[in-house]
Amino acid sequence: MAPHGSCFLLAVLLSAGCKAIASSDQMCTEKEANKTYNCENLGLREIPDTLPNMTEFLEFGFNFLPTIENTTFSRLTDLIFLDLTRCQINWVHEGTFQSHHQLNTIVLTGNPLIFMAETSLNGPRSLKHLFLVQTGISNLEFIPVHNMENLESLHLGSNHISSIKLPENFPTQNLKVLDFQNNAVHYLSREDMNTLEKATNLSLNLNGNDIKGIEPGTFHSKMFQSLKFGGSPNLSVILKGLQNSTAHSLWLGTYEDIDDQDLTLAMLEGLCEMTVESINLQKRHFSDISSTMFQCFTQLQELDLTATHLQGLPSGIKGMNSLKKLVLNVNNFGQLCEINAASFPSLTDLYIKGNVRKLDLGTGCLEKLENLRKLDLSHNDIEASDCCNLQLRKLLHLQYLNLSFNEPLTLQNQAFKECPQLELLDFSFTHLHINTPQSPFQNLHLLQVLNLSHCLLDTSNQHLLAGLLDLRHLNLQGNLFQDGSISKTNLLQTLGSLEILILSSCELVSIDQQAFHSLGKMSHVDLSHNSLTGTSIDAFSHLKGIYLNLAANSICTIPPHLLPILSQQSTINLSHNPLDCTCSNIHFITWYKENLQKLEGSEETLCANPSSLRGVKLSDVKLSCGITAVGIFFLVVFLLSLTTLFIFSVKFLLRHKYQNI
Ligand SMILES: *[C@@H]1O[C@H](CO)[C@@H](O)[C@H](O)[C@H]1NC(C)=O
Ligand SMILES: *[C@@H]1O[C@H](CO)[C@@H](O)[C@H](O)[C@H]1NC(C)=O
Ligand SMILES: *[C@@H]1O[C@H](CO)[C@@H](O)[C@H](O)[C@H]1NC(C)=O
Ligand SMILES: *[C@@H]1O[C@H](CO)[C@@H](O)[C@H](O)[C@H]1NC(C)=O
Ligand SMILES: *[C@@H]1O[C@H](CO)[C@@H](O)[C@H](O)[C@H]1NC(C)=O
Ligand SMILES: *[C@@H]1O[C@H](CO)[C@@H](O)[C@H](O)[C@H]1NC(C)=O
Ligand SMILES: *[C@@H]1O[C@H](CO)[C@@H](O)[C@H](O)[C@H]1NC(C)=O
Repeated sequence: MAPHGSCFLLAVLLSAGCKAIASSDQMCTEKEANKTYNCENLGLREIPDTLPNMTEFLEFGFNFLPTIENTTFSRLTDLIFLDLTRCQINWVHEGTFQSHHQLNTIVLTGNPLIFMAETSLNGPRSLKHLFLVQTGISNLEFIPVHNMENLESLHLGSNHISSIKLPENFPTQNLKVLDFQNNAVHYLSREDMNTLEKATNLSLNLNGNDIKGIEPGTFHSKMFQSLKFGGSPNLSVILKGLQNSTAHSLWLGTYEDIDDQDLTLAMLEGLCEMTVESINLQKRHFSDISSTMFQCFTQLQELDLTATHLQGLPSGIKGMNSLKKLVLNVNNFGQLCEINAASFPSLTDLYIKGNVRKLDLGTGCLEKLENLRKLDLSHNDIEASDCCNLQLRKLLHLQYLNLSFNEPLTLQNQAFKECPQLELLDFSFTHLHINTPQSPFQNLHLLQVLNLSHCLLDTSNQHLLAGLLDLRHLNLQGNLFQDGSISKTNLLQTLGSLEILILSSCELVSIDQQAFHSLGKMSHVDLSHNSLTGTSIDAFSHLKGIYLNLAANSICTIPPHLLPILSQQSTINLSHNPLDCTCSNIHFITWYKENLQKLEGSEETLCANPSSLRGVKLSDVKLSCGITAVGIFFLVVFLLSLTTLFIFSVKFLLRHKYQNI
């Protein structure tokens, strides 16, 4: 195991494309040459000399810089992004960033700030994002006001702030995000909100503050992109306070550890007095879910009721004609008809995933949703012995259907006759019994993406995928083929439009040379994690410029006549194969070194044989397979003896002949 472990570590290190640069005794990691560096958690007390002056993105968190001042970063004048998370910074002195004109993001998260000088953030021409999360701030007067004209986001989460009132002269005209989550804001006043007058389209986050009161009129005719009051125990206070406001989205969800009041009709009434398009009530409890509960939801376009402990939605909900998107994930439905879908006639997107109970699809439960485009039914333990025409009746415009991670489904002939417009179908990890010699997908002429990974398909049925005229992307990962072989006639033959084919982890041993012959448009083929040998490359002779992944197979040698087939492709991954680095494979090794630009994963493309070269990168192998000096000597001696023998034989024969005359 040990060598495997270290190989894996090496692979991880190398695949990140990282290069370490030496500092005095610690190493920063270079992510992009001269530009992006990570020096996190190295116990540094200053900027290492090895960082180039032109560094633009610097992650310097988890080091030790108790004070920062104008000399601390003075060399790195090209900085754009500076992350100083948890550097034990107490003091931010005058002009710390005075020569950093390009700087647009400063992260000071997790520093116990004692003092920030008035001019400490002067210098940047366009400071846009400032993170002062967990810095111990209790009063907004602490934040320097200077040079904030371009500020777009101010993050102040997890502090001790009790009032959101910004300093009088704090410029807010460009502010888009103001984040106060997990503070101690209990009261909002008109005066507080007036300091935000100039911020139009603001996203204001007050999640995790126990708001106990809002002065009437505080939000009067204010407009927001989003408002978040998650985790507030008393929603009626919030919704009353939001009277006459407009918000594109309103997040009113809660968290596991909060003991909040059940939602009542009276509580939600405030919604009728504001304008909002999208609401999230994640994890709330409804005291009694009657149709009147929805009377203030009628303006909504999106409603998210994830994990709201619902067993059904009441019938008789009226006026929800605007609702386009409904999210009902992680609830407790028994049968799909219990959502009373007919109440939401304009729905285009419906998500019911991760239902707590086994979900029964019923019959025609969604048939009133004639505009439905997207339906996610994944992770629901759905089981059906005859899917899916009755269940999905009249979903004429459905384009996206996700049935992944369910229990076994049996598909009959033309199983999706009711949804002829399907473009994407995902059955990943759902066992499929195909109960017909024909194709269950026959009429899906518009289907472009089909995910059948880990479906335990019977791949010997050659008609399985017939009719999929426009299929571009097919995932068959984890399905098995008879004898581990894709033969000349196979289920892929009807897929003339296919561009992306995933056949990884299918326990394949061989592929017939003609297997992919009718697939002329392929651009991406993943055959990784199989047991293929070099000869399977022959199946790609008719394709050019494709991405071909043959990683983690059993390829030892690649015969010379197959090398032109590799040459005509654009990218090839041959990593993790037991490659032979002896003279019998010299043509391939030579080809490999000449075509390195085509090969991905070359750091993990290693020799397995002979043992003296095991683990050596193929690109580093030097073989001399010509004839050696000793060899030439013996060859010359051999030829000389042969000639001598020949002359003597001729002489002997002639003499023998003349003696007989
Ligand atoms: C990085 O900077 C050095 C010194 O200026 C220069 O020689 C090198 O080409 C640069 N590398 C890249 C990738 O820009
Ligand atoms: C840094 O600040 C000190 C004191 O404010 C000042 O004397 C010095 O000139 C400044 N250094 C630079 C490089 O600006
Ligand atoms: C408002 O902000 C959102 C996201 O923050 C953005 O997508 C939208 O375009 C903005 N609208 C206007 C009118 O600026
Ligand atoms: C809301 O607007 C209405 C009509 O403009 C007004 O009468 C009412 O006082 C406002 N309510 C609040 C709390 O501002
Ligand atoms: C289908 O749902 C699964 C699980 O929720 C998800 O991982 C997958 O990405 C979805 N498929 C598509 C195509 O979005
Ligand atoms: C199935 O494949 C599609 C297309 O590649 C992908 O978007 C989706 O996430 C996959 N589903 C799962 C469950 O991984
Ligand atoms: C090569 O393919 C393997 C297996 O799919 C994958 O893990 C690896 O990331 C690929 N290499 C590169 C450089 O993409």
